Amino acid sequence: MILFNDFKKEYLNLKIVIDSAIKEVLESGQYILGEKVERFEKEFADYLGAKYCFGVGSGLEALEIALMALGVKRGDEVITTAHSAVATALAIKAVGAKPVFVDIDEYYHLDSDKIEEKITPQTKAILPVHLYGQPSAIKKIKEIAQKHHLYLVEDSAQGHGAKYDGQKVGTFGEFGCFSFYPTKNLGALGDGGAIVTNREDLYEKCKMIRNYGFNSRLDEIQASILSSKLKYLDQFNQKRNKHAELYFKLLKNLKEIKLPKTRENVDHIYHLFVIEAEKRDELMEFLKESEIATLVHYPTPIHRQDYFPEFNNLKFPVLDSKIDNILSLPIHPFLSNEDIIYISQKIIEFYGN
Ligand SMILES: Cc1ncc(COP(=O)(O)O)c(C=O)c1O
Repeated sequence: MILFNDFKKEYLNLKIVIDSAIKEVLESGQYILGEKVERFEKEFADYLGAKYCFGVGSGLEALEIALMALGVKRGDEVITTAHSAVATALAIKAVGAKPVFVDIDEYYHLDSDKIEEKITPQTKAILPVHLYGQPSAIKKIKEIAQKHHLYLVEDSAQGHGAKYDGQKVGTFGEFGCFSFYPTKNLGALGDGGAIVTNREDLYEKCKMIRNYGFNSRLDEIQASILSSKLKYLDQFNQKRNKHAELYFKLLKNLKEIKLPKTRENVDHIYHLFVIEAEKRDELMEFLKESEIATLVHYPTPIHRQDYFPEFNNLKFPVLDSKIDNILSLPIHPFLSNEDIIYISQKIIEFYGN
């Protein structure tokens, strides 16, 4: 079976470094807010080119704390996308604010041309998501945020190491929020998250929120594992890029599918490789029978989910036109070229070419 993510292979590949990272913590006798968390925060900030990093319990909490630190609250609006993990909108709702959704562009990101028409006197922030590992139109979004005096919070949960014009995502706005959920390009062996910022006042505010009742911490074991895995992140991102190149080469002539588009001036990290496929559900089933796991990110846009009945009737033409065709193919770094070739052959076979 070709798995969508192969955590066991990943662990066995990095066993020596991961085992020793865990052992170091066990033997240190300090398990919460110790030197491993501090070390990782520094390393991750340096890796991104940010001044401050603050470890938290998850990506969702990273977003929530970032919004709280900016004072976003009940009655405020935050412009974002309905095409993301539900956590993006949950964080906005958690602080009492209202998510205001904008349709997506051809790269599956919040469409920067459609932001300004949604700005109202209640708008406090823009929250783009660097979905699938590709930077959103972050420079243009930052210009809009500055022009209208809005905060910019980047959901970078899928963007560890992705760059726009050479600058890493998560460092453009007031805050960049990361998740270390195990499936992410930099994944812990449990939950974890981080907030990065270049502003000392905001960093201090995050610390205050943690001290005054919001219990969200990255633990020493996860921090130690993340430090050891961070050294491999660029190498693994490159491997994902190589897999993507091979998919492009093998699938480019297939008229029944659309391959993902890449923006100019970006370094994509291919957290996910998402195609648009005719007869998507049948293709998925055929691949499953061929021992290939695929997934859909995401089958139901946030505005149509039961948890958000107030948005169920909204229409987003671009998102609505793509949602039933999107399919994520395996692209993790522990796949072989043969795996990618086999997956591509099976897709070609399905369409009878
Ligand atoms: C885009 C996006 N935002 C937020 C999150 C939330 O992260 P976590 O699962 O660590 O809370 C995730 C991942 O699940 C995500 O993919």
